Amino acid sequence: MNDESTKIVAIDGPAASGKSTVARQVAQELGIVFVSSGEMYRAFTWWVLENDVDPTDKNSVLELLKSTKFICGKSENKSTITIDGKLLTRAEMASEPVNQNVSVIAAIPEVRARLVAEQRAYAEKSGVVMEGRDIGSVVFPDTPLKFYIDASPEVRQQRRAAEGIEDSIANRDKIDSNRKASPLVIPEDAVVVDSSYMTAEEVVGEVLREIRART
Ligand code: DC
Repeated sequence: MNDESTKIVAIDGPAASGKSTVARQVAQELGIVFVSSGEMYRAFTWWVLENDVDPTDKNSVLELLKSTKFICGKSENKSTITIDGKLLTRAEMASEPVNQNVSVIAAIPEVRARLVAEQRAYAEKSGVVMEGRDIGSVVFPDTPLKFYIDASPEVRQQRRAAEGIEDSIANRDKIDSNRKASPLVIPEDAVVVDSSYMTAEEVVGEVLREIRART
C-alpha cells in the first residue's frame, strides 16, 4: 500500500468544514489526483438550471440526466467536469442558485448512481484524494484511509462569510444528512478531525500522519 498510484483517500464532512482545502493539499503532498465529488453534483445542478428544468421535478431532471454527456477529466492533478462540451468554471459551480438547489439534485438516487460510477472511474486510473459526503461510506467503503473533517456550525458559517460567499449551509446540511440515498454519515472506521480551532496546515499534517501510519 505504499504505492501512491493505488492510494484512495476518502475525506467526508459537512459543508464548509474545510475538507476541500485539506483534500487538495493532501493530494498535492502525495502527488495524486484531487477529486471534488461535490463539484460533480454542482455541475449537474448548474446544467439543470441552465436548461430551465425545475430541480424539484424529478422526471424532468432524469430526462435531462439521460441525455447529458459528462466528461470527468483532470487538469494539474485536479478533477474537471465537462457537460455536453462545456468545461464548468468554479464560479459557475459555486453560484448561489447552485448552492440553493444542489442538495435537492444530490438526493436523487439515479443522479447519485451516475456520478458515483464516474467517481470510481477516477480511481481506476490513479491514486485519488476524493472529498464529499459518502466517499468513505458508499463510493470507496473498502479503503482503510477514511477521514471525516468536522467543524462547529458557527465556525463553518463564519468561514463561508469570510470567503464572501453566500451559502445556505444549514439548509444543505439538513437535506444532506436526512436524505434516504447515501446520507452524510461518519463511517465507523473513519478518523474524525474537528477542525474548528485548527489551521488547514494542522489538519493536513494530522491526515498525512495517519495515512503514513496506516500504509
Ligand atoms: O462539497 P460541496 O459543498 O461542494 O457539495 C455540494 C453538495 O453536493 C452538497 O450540499 C451535497 C452534495 N454532495 C453529495 O451529496 N455527495 C457528495 N459525495 C458530495 C457532495
